[in-house]
Amino acid sequence: MQKTNIDQLNNLVNQKATLMGWVQSRRNLGKIVFLNLRDAFGNVQIVLTLKELDDQSIKQLEKIRNEFVISVEGVVRLRQGKEKKDNLTINDVEIQAEQIKVLAESITPPFDLNNEQQQVKEESRFKYRYLDLRRSCLHHNLILRHQVVTAMRQFFNQRQFLEIETPILTKGTPEGAREYVVPARLFPGKAYVLPQSPQQFKQLLMIAGFERYYQLARCFRDEDTRGDRQPEFTQFDLEMSFVEQEDILQLIEQMFVQLIEQINSLSNLSKKITKTPFSHLTYAQAMEKYQTDKPDLRQDKNNPNELAFTWITEIPLFQYSEEEKKIVAGHHPFTMPDQRDLDLLDKDPLKVRSLSYDLVLNGYEIGGGSVRINQPALQQNIFQILRLSNKDIQERFGHLLTALSYGAPPHGGIALGIDRLIMILANQPNIREVIAFPKTTDGRDLMVGAPAEIEHKIIK
Ligand code: AMO
Repeated sequence: MQKTNIDQLNNLVNQKATLMGWVQSRRNLGKIVFLNLRDAFGNVQIVLTLKELDDQSIKQLEKIRNEFVISVEGVVRLRQGKEKKDNLTINDVEIQAEQIKVLAESITPPFDLNNEQQQVKEESRFKYRYLDLRRSCLHHNLILRHQVVTAMRQFFNQRQFLEIETPILTKGTPEGAREYVVPARLFPGKAYVLPQSPQQFKQLLMIAGFERYYQLARCFRDEDTRGDRQPEFTQFDLEMSFVEQEDILQLIEQMFVQLIEQINSLSNLSKKITKTPFSHLTYAQAMEKYQTDKPDLRQDKNNPNELAFTWITEIPLFQYSEEEKKIVAGHHPFTMPDQRDLDLLDKDPLKVRSLSYDLVLNGYEIGGGSVRINQPALQQNIFQILRLSNKDIQERFGHLLTALSYGAPPHGGIALGIDRLIMILANQPNIREVIAFPKTTDGRDLMVGAPAEIEHKIIK
């Protein structure tokens, strides 16, 4: 099919073009009909003067309704009142149609796709997500998401990072949430676990000698959904060898400064970082000054373009979980203790600070990471402080302890929450607005009908 994309039309004034897309709206003025046509790249006005159309086109035009898929052949021309200039935009041009054809009809959509302000019932939006995604706001959020991820990939590619995939069917890795399990057909009673993050695999890649890894990683956590939390979400996950904490923080900061510049010019945004270098607060300082480990440091909270980043460092290595009535890892159990507190490890573990850090943006935690333990004895000690029996340690982490005893380089990394980052950049209230097919608050996909009943024999 020969199709001209709508964003090309401003360069084709007085030339013929064939457009294909969806009818966004239709205005009937008797002898003239105006259609607004949408494709993936933009919208344009189509002018249909009845006396200039052939019979076939007029017949087709009569049945056209919103969301019909049509093709239009016509001439690109300047809109009334617009003048020829060098940098015409799509709003300066329209199509004088010569022929139109219906490619596919549409029944009436369950909600108005033109009206961004209209409060559409959530049930409806989720059930007909493919229609919801036709709306301009969601469409642009996904374009922004693509641009951000592409820019991040480029940044790390230029610095000799390798993008490496890690397994989805695996064994549990402790990030604090309940895990999703997948029954293993060949091993009745056994199951794979979906990863909460690629944490152990990225450390194993460092032991394998790769030094610089990243991955756009899908993570799965069976926890209650909130505005900034989904059961499956995406991390920009990375790990580096032969680095200290400060090297990682600086690299990430440099990446964000460059990213915001690039996104401003690509997406025509005016985002501004409040302060560089990013502010640094220790966990204790943040709690004392702001009573939260996710302070919102924007100077003007009503400014949609302000981006206030802050690092939270010296996060306690352990914390006491009231829910579990036991000591648990502050970040995860592979995190390196702060050398200054090593003598407290066995005496007073809750006082030990760690080499872990969170990146907070406008009051949201958009990333977290740490320097990792690279000595098997220290790792074993941490598991013991967490009250894991030797049997448990062997069963759950034997592979990691063994790997650590084969020459593990000093290493560390971070994972950035892509959904939260895009939510903030797109000024959206919920990460669902930046995920193509998200789950509802109670974890359902209303469009495909998941979760669904399965045959009992599959679970066994
Ligand atoms: P952490 O658990 O802090 O670290 O996760 C990193 C970032 O992922 C995002 N995130 C989420 N986003 C949406 N929905 C969720 N349910 C969700 N959970 C987390 C947050 C968070 O900051 N393996 C470590 C990283 C490391 O140590 O390198 C990890 O997963 O933005």
